[in-house]
Order: sequence, then structure tokens, then C-alpha cells
Amino acid sequence: MTTVYLNGELVPIERATVSVLDRGFIFGDGVYEVIPVYGRRPFRLAEHLARLQASMDGIRLANPYATETWTKLIGNLIDQHEWSEQSVYIQVTRGAAPRNHAFPKDAKPTTFIMTGPLSVPSREEKERGVDAITLNDYRWIRCNIKSTALLANCLLKQAAVEAGCAEAILLRDGFLTEGSSTNIFVVKGNLLLAPPKSHLILPGITYDVVIELARAHGMPLEVRPVSESEVRSADELWLSSSSKEVLAITELDGKSVGNGKPGPLYKKMLGYFEASKAVRSTAPVHA
Ligand code: PDD
Repeated sequence: MTTVYLNGELVPIERATVSVLDRGFIFGDGVYEVIPVYGRRPFRLAEHLARLQASMDGIRLANPYATETWTKLIGNLIDQHEWSEQSVYIQVTRGAAPRNHAFPKDAKPTTFIMTGPLSVPSREEKERGVDAITLNDYRWIRCNIKSTALLANCLLKQAAVEAGCAEAILLRDGFLTEGSSTNIFVVKGNLLLAPPKSHLILPGITYDVVIELARAHGMPLEVRPVSESEVRSADELWLSSSSKEVLAITELDGKSVGNGKPGPLYKKMLGYFEASKAVRSTAPVHA
């Protein structure tokens, strides 16, 4: 049975319930994080908790816990489950209050943490890559906040799935933003291109890892706006996220990307990434 953390208690998931007046339910008024756990250690925990704080600041919600408390709560929950690789999900909402768009004066935030087995891409997906379509990015312009209000992302992802694809690559005003649930990288020759962080994309933790690894290994890299035509003429396209790690996109809008197989730079980056997972995970929380 899965145990979850809800508002100060560890409870079986079947018994974890929140009010129908919770502003997360009524308005999508909350923020979240997804943290991969490798070998029972949360990967880049400090960075995920810093982004959670930034998201809370972005929606003017006071953080219910200090970093040390989050670290303990997450460690305890990981310990409750046998899987060595896990995916920890954190959600904090503005809490339950009579329905009113304006913030309630004294609602208590709802704090929820769950974990499950981490499902990373299969070997076949890593070897063959996945397909994507391009779509117009019609989300709001605070995409740097990891908000639970994900309706636009869900609609965009569903359109990709209905087109038989794994991801929708989003374009806004002729430039690449990101995927519906991933960051996107473009390779031109031996140059890696990444759109800069801004209010139009989520500052991905895996995005940072990819950029750090490119720099550490001397891979030519430019972090700058990437045009739609650069996406369409890319030699390689990659997506990154905490659950997909780094994955090649080998078909875009029905056309092969490069020669239709994961490219040489992707293979290098995948090797660097696999190696970094072991050494870059934070120390065991109970060490
Ligand atoms: N999604 N961009 C968007 C819109 C995302 O939702 C995500 C992550 C990313 C990648 O961020 P990171 O590398 O920190 O996971 C980029 C998570 C995994 C999700 O919603 O399940």
C-alpha cells in the first residue's frame, strides 16, 4: 500500500482526502514539484526545493516548511517505500476557503507529498528516439512558475498523443519555448542550442544538468532564442525532464530529424547524463 504525506501526517493514499473547497481543486491555485530519486537518493533536491520556493514566491504563497523540514519529510516518505528509483511529487495549494477569487485571509496551505516508482524511458525509446509535433504555445506568460494549473499543457500534450507523438514542441511568435512537459534542445552541426530561461519557459532542473554537462565536456553551446526555422532544420532535437531524463526526438511533424536516428551529440550527452546520475544525487537524507 502506498503511503502519502498530507498536512502533517503519513496516511495510506486511500485515506488521504482534501476539502472540495480546496483552492487547488477550485482554481488550480497551487504549485508543485517532481523530484527523481536514484538509488534511494533524491536527485538535485536543493535545486528542486529552491524552485518550489520560487514558484511559491511567484504566486505569493508562504512556504509552510523550511528546507530542512522538506528534506526530512521527503526522506521519510522515500524510506516508506521499497523502490530504489522513485518519483516524488510535492503539491502545495492555498488551502480550503469559501470560493472567492481573491486570497482568503487565513486559509492554511494544503501540503501533499506522494511517491511512486520512477518510470524512465525504456532502452528502446533511448535507442530509437520519440516523435513530436509542433504546436502554437497558447499558455499564459508566467510559465516559469510550476503551477498545478496545467490545463493548457494537458490540452497540448493530448493533441500530441492523438497525433501518435510523445511530445508537443511549442512555438511562440516564431521562437521555440519548450515542450508541453519538457524542455527542448536543438543541435545544429556540433553546436547545442538552448532557449534562455525567461517567463515563457519552466526553468528545468534537467535543463540545468544538460547545460552544465555540455559546458563540463566542452560541447559547443549557445543559450539564446532559437527560431522556428532552426527547430525545423535541426540535425538533432532533444527533450529533457525529471521523468524523461534526456531523450532524442527523431521525427517532427512527420519528417525525420537528421537521419531519423538519435544523433552523435545525443549519444554523448546520454552517456554524460547516465554517469552524472550517480555522482550528482544529493547525499542520503539520513546519512
Ligand atoms: N514536468 N517544462 C515543463 C512545462 C514541465 O512541465 C517540465 C517538467 C519541464 C522539465 O523540468 P524538470 O527538468 O525540472 O523536470 C519543462 C514534470 C516532470 C511534470 O509535470 O510531471
